[in-house]
Amino acid sequence: MFRKLQKFMALTLTLLLAAGANTMVQARDFRLGLITPPPHVWTKAAIAFGEELSQETDGAHTVAVFPSRQLGNEAQMMQLLQTGGLDMAFLTMAEVSNRIPQFGAFYAPYLAADVNQAGALLRSKVAENMLALLPERAGVVGIGYGMAGMRQIASRDAVGSTADLAGKKLRITPFEPIKDFYNEVGAAATPMPLPSVYDALANGQVDAIDMDLELIWKLKYHEHSSDVLVTNHMMFPMIGLVSAQVWNSLAESDQDVIGKLMAKHLDSVIDTYIELEPSFLEEVKKTDVNVRMLDASFFGEAAQGWTEIWADKSEGALAELKTALE
Ligand code: BEZ
Repeated sequence: MFRKLQKFMALTLTLLLAAGANTMVQARDFRLGLITPPPHVWTKAAIAFGEELSQETDGAHTVAVFPSRQLGNEAQMMQLLQTGGLDMAFLTMAEVSNRIPQFGAFYAPYLAADVNQAGALLRSKVAENMLALLPERAGVVGIGYGMAGMRQIASRDAVGSTADLAGKKLRITPFEPIKDFYNEVGAAATPMPLPSVYDALANGQVDAIDMDLELIWKLKYHEHSSDVLVTNHMMFPMIGLVSAQVWNSLAESDQDVIGKLMAKHLDSVIDTYIELEPSFLEEVKKTDVNVRMLDASFFGEAAQGWTEIWADKSEGALAELKTALE
């Protein structure tokens, strides 16, 4: 009888331990990298995501956020994600489009008229389906999209027409679709990462920059600009990524909570730009620059030229993306 009781208790203990092991969260300290500085909307969203993940998992998971390229530029962070050397990143879609040309379709000039339409495109089924390309083609899992504001031009000298940009050194984020656009415009597209832009504009290394209103204001590019051309010529998406190696090592319940919360905070970035873009314009207008409100006609045939190049280069994604707005 006693031996039977002993056996029963041992079995119960084993079952209890096994049940405990199943429900126990494997604690992880994740690292998330991005290139934007601490006050930027993307960085704030990354921090808020980490805080909520920690709360929801009772402190089991934490996220250390590394802004301002502390872990390297976007190409380097992408490589780290692929090897599992970095857990997570919020990267411009620019970097992703350098590896998977379908994502270049999002940069079609005037595809989105404004931040509202940009948000609608990024929340579309077509955009969601494109995330499925990422694990196989880039070794990363795409959780969702964020964005920055629409692209504008800030110039050291007055610009009356695109003739004033001809041959001028115009800073671009380093990626193909924007280079193709400014080649069509006739400017000398000059790839340059974000942290180098202020000095380059200040010392005349570049004549103009491709930028959004938030940063023209917050990073004070207006201080070295005569004109800001509000052209709204392109959207500027961001993607929230997790290393596929890291993702595959996570329990399904962890994937669920990380996926849910990261997607929520990425989506809130879209809301933030939709809400704040008009106020960024007001702030820029308060500075000393000459703000010119322009439309697609300013660029003449450049948008058409770009579309002819990218209809093929985007491997059909451009045509598909256009259907998302119908
Ligand atoms: C840029 O390269 O212009 C940029 C990068 C990240 C966020 C916003 C702007």
